[in-house]
Order: sequence, then C-alpha cells, then structure tokens
Amino acid sequence: MAFSNKKIIAGNWKMNGLKQDSWQLTNDLLNKFESPDDNFGFQMIICPPATLLSEITSMVEGSPIATGAQNCSDRLNGAYTGEISPIMVKDVGAKFVILGHSERRAYYGETNEIVALKAQSALDQGLTPIICIGETLEQKEVGSALAVIEDQFMNSVPVNATVDNIIIAYEPVWAIGTGKVATLQDIIDIHSKIREVAEKKLGSKNITILYGGSVKPTNAKEVFSTDEVNGVLVGGASLNADDFWNIAMASI
Ligand code: PGA
Repeated sequence: MAFSNKKIIAGNWKMNGLKQDSWQLTNDLLNKFESPDDNFGFQMIICPPATLLSEITSMVEGSPIATGAQNCSDRLNGAYTGEISPIMVKDVGAKFVILGHSERRAYYGETNEIVALKAQSALDQGLTPIICIGETLEQKEVGSALAVIEDQFMNSVPVNATVDNIIIAYEPVWAIGTGKVATLQDIIDIHSKIREVAEKKLGSKNITILYGGSVKPTNAKEVFSTDEVNGVLVGGASLNADDFWNIAMASI
C-alpha cells in the first residue's frame, strides 16, 4: 500500500480561514502532538486556502503535519491571471493538492479531462494529487453510482499515475456538508469498485482511497472499521481542532 499503511487524515478547509483563526487552529493541532516523531501511525494533512498555504506550511515544518493546496493549475507559469501553478505549491513546501473536488466540478466547470491535466502537472512537480470522485444523489438514485465512479476514475486519473503516486478520495456529493454519511456497506462497495478500476487502469488494486462526506468524530470509528478505507478527507469538522483530532484518533 502506498504511504506505508499510515491512515491519511486530510482536512479541506475550503474557502474558510483568516490569518488569526487559522494560526490558532494550526497551533491547537500542533499542540496535540507531543513531539515531531509523535505521529500515532497516521499522516495528518491540512489544506488551507491558497492565501495561507505558505504561512501554515512554515508553521508545521518539522512536525507530523503536512500541507496541501485545494486546487492548482495545469499550467506551470505565464499569463494565467488568478491561477496558482503546481510549481508555486511545491515552492512553499506543500506536498499534496486536492484536485477535482465536486465543488470545483459543479461550480467551476472542471471536467474529468481538466482534472487529469492538473493531476499530471502536479505529478510532474512531485506533488501528490488527491483526486476526488463521487456520484450525485440523482446518479445514486438511478443506480448509476458505480458507472459514474468508473468513468471519473478512468478519465480523471492521468496516464503517468501509479497506485503509489496518487491518492483517490471517494466523496459522494450527497454526503458533502449534509450530515449524511454513506453507509459502511456503500463505502465498502464503492471502494472495492475503485480498486477494480485501479487494477484495470494502473495494474494494481493497492491504491490509497480516502472516504469523504460528513466525517465527524461521532462516525469516524465506523468509517475506519473497514480496511477498504485508507483515510478520510474532512471538510466542516477539520475547522475545529478537537473534532479533527478526535477523527484522527478514531483511526488508531
Ligand atoms: P464535509 O466535506 O466533511 O464538510 O462533508 C468533505 C469535503 O468536501 O471534502
């Protein structure tokens, strides 16, 4: 398994966080670890907004916490107003980048093809893309969830990906920010489908798959109760240090 079997606890702050409260949140998390070697067997990743990525990455340097961006361009530099290059993400010391989040797909028109280009560009810079896939409620209700997942995986994962250089986040759109978590059986079914598709496209089932969608301290233990789950991508609950920490603790 990629990432040496450590469970990944990733926090997606989305468009939340001003300087003061973000420093506080980061310090509160850092204070939960007793020493730089104190990683409890999980890899914690926080993904602040782009304005804070450099500062927060410096704050966590040398600690068990890594950072990631929430998006990046497929271009490396030049006249692309408002875009952030994967080179810039790497330059500030972040190691990961969330790509193809359903909010970007829904509100900013990101297609599988765009996600694949971005992921390839991120990989070329040595970043680890966290590629998000997941069905909408409508797709689930008409029984096409597995087909949607397969299509998103086949087309959002770039050609140079391997099971060791990318992370997949399965985030059912209907579970994001709604308080509705997928059932354990849904998670198991979809994650095993993703492994089948990974074998077809990348030659191995051994890929790191995070579950995301209303993960909270109250349901984290259940989410981690299956080996199909290699970690979680947490939105709302990652904005509270105690909640995020308790989710991490549920993984050990
Ligand atoms: P949520 O968001 O935990 O607030 O549901 C998850 C995500 O969008 O990554």
